Amino acid sequence: MTDSITVTDNRTGETLEIPIVNGGVAAKEFSKVVPGVWFYDPGFMATAAAESSITYLDGDAGVLRYRGYPIEQLAENSTYLEVAYLLLYGELPTADQAAAWEEEVTYHTYIHENVRKRFLEGFNYDAHPMGMLVSAIAALSTYYKDAKILDDPEILHRQIVRLIAKMPTLAAAAHRFSVGMPFVYPDNSLGYTQNFLSMMWKVAEPRYAANPILARALDVLFILHADHEQNCGTTAMRIVASSHGDPYSATAAATAALYGPRHGGANEAVLKMLGKIGSIDNVPAFIETVKQGHTRLEGFGHRVYKNFDPRATIIKRTADEVFTVTGKNPLLDIALKLEEIALGDDYFTSRKLYPNVDFYSGLIYQAMGFPPEMFTVLFAIPRTSGWLAHYKELLDQDLKIARPRQLYIGSEARDYVPMAQR
Ligand code: CMC
Repeated sequence: MTDSITVTDNRTGETLEIPIVNGGVAAKEFSKVVPGVWFYDPGFMATAAAESSITYLDGDAGVLRYRGYPIEQLAENSTYLEVAYLLLYGELPTADQAAAWEEEVTYHTYIHENVRKRFLEGFNYDAHPMGMLVSAIAALSTYYKDAKILDDPEILHRQIVRLIAKMPTLAAAAHRFSVGMPFVYPDNSLGYTQNFLSMMWKVAEPRYAANPILARALDVLFILHADHEQNCGTTAMRIVASSHGDPYSATAAATAALYGPRHGGANEAVLKMLGKIGSIDNVPAFIETVKQGHTRLEGFGHRVYKNFDPRATIIKRTADEVFTVTGKNPLLDIALKLEEIALGDDYFTSRKLYPNVDFYSGLIYQAMGFPPEMFTVLFAIPRTSGWLAHYKELLDQDLKIARPRQLYIGSEARDYVPMAQR
């Protein structure tokens, strides 16, 4: 048996054998025998639009690796900044590279005063921080004119550093504004996660010292969220990159895609769902409404993971560590009961629906004091390094602009009808 398929165009009788490479065939090969015939694949269920060496994912086996390193080992031993470097530059940094990288990122944490004063503070008092973040990231492109230069690796590197460095500052600024608290400037004597926590929570103390267990837990969550190959947000990033949009505009597009409740917005949706269920006693009735199709079990199911989400396993462990400091989140028992019932129910198992990364992350964030509106923001901060790694990879590959075909299902040609005759 050969690893290929044979395609025959019955209109012409022409036949071509097309090799199956890595489980797929190239559309370009197909077009050789059936020119003009296209594939209808909404949601890209069977379409690979990228060759990538960043993240490996085996959904059936529950495997996730960044640049070949298992996510479990990175979560155990690494830091978010080291992982960001790995995603972007392909290798773990040496001690010197890690120190230089950390210093660079730390040096760029400040945002232009006008981004805060004229822009962020122009939002309505109750603006959602994710909406503020999407807009603020896009606005950054107007501050860095060199962002349009994409063919100079040093200049591109500078934008990458700026984005990774400024995301926590923008995120914390959006939160402080939405709760009416004064902006806290970055404290560049602190590490990446500690600095973010300081900008979030500092009140009147001269220096905010984050609890090390909580800071490490957040760093682990950042590692787990840093990349996930061709998801909706990364695809948005790549599509903008393919038009050679600047890195800030592309990151804003990716952040907007992440905002949706089917994607990064799910962690906020999980918390709202748990709050609505209210008590363990209501769990069976809620599961019934899910099975009847009235609502979805938020934080369950995944396009790729059909066995378990390895990130969810690590997050569950991290939750236990966080709860030793914060006390148990009262919604945890409802989440555990939901998981127990769903995993024993044929509706969920037959559809291969298991807890995903968002099922437990919201419980941790809430226990740490983050309001639900900040949960997706907490996803966007670390995902920025993954998005930028894909952006850089796509530019290096010098790909064509993304432009899918469409199946037109509208009216035939018809004549304009004057208003009085409609
Ligand atoms: N609760 C109940 N039923 C579900 C769920 C759910 N959470 N997810 C999928 N199903 C059912 C769905 O109704 C369908 O059933 P049927 O075959 O009878 O029509 C079947 O399972 C397949 O669902 P699908 O919508 O075709 O699957 P998909 O691969 O297109 O969707 C998903 C994946 C993540 C959008 C979906 O599972 C979902 O909406 N989950 C809830 C939201 C969520 O947790 N999202 C976070 C994803 S992980 C983080 C990230 O990527 O951002």
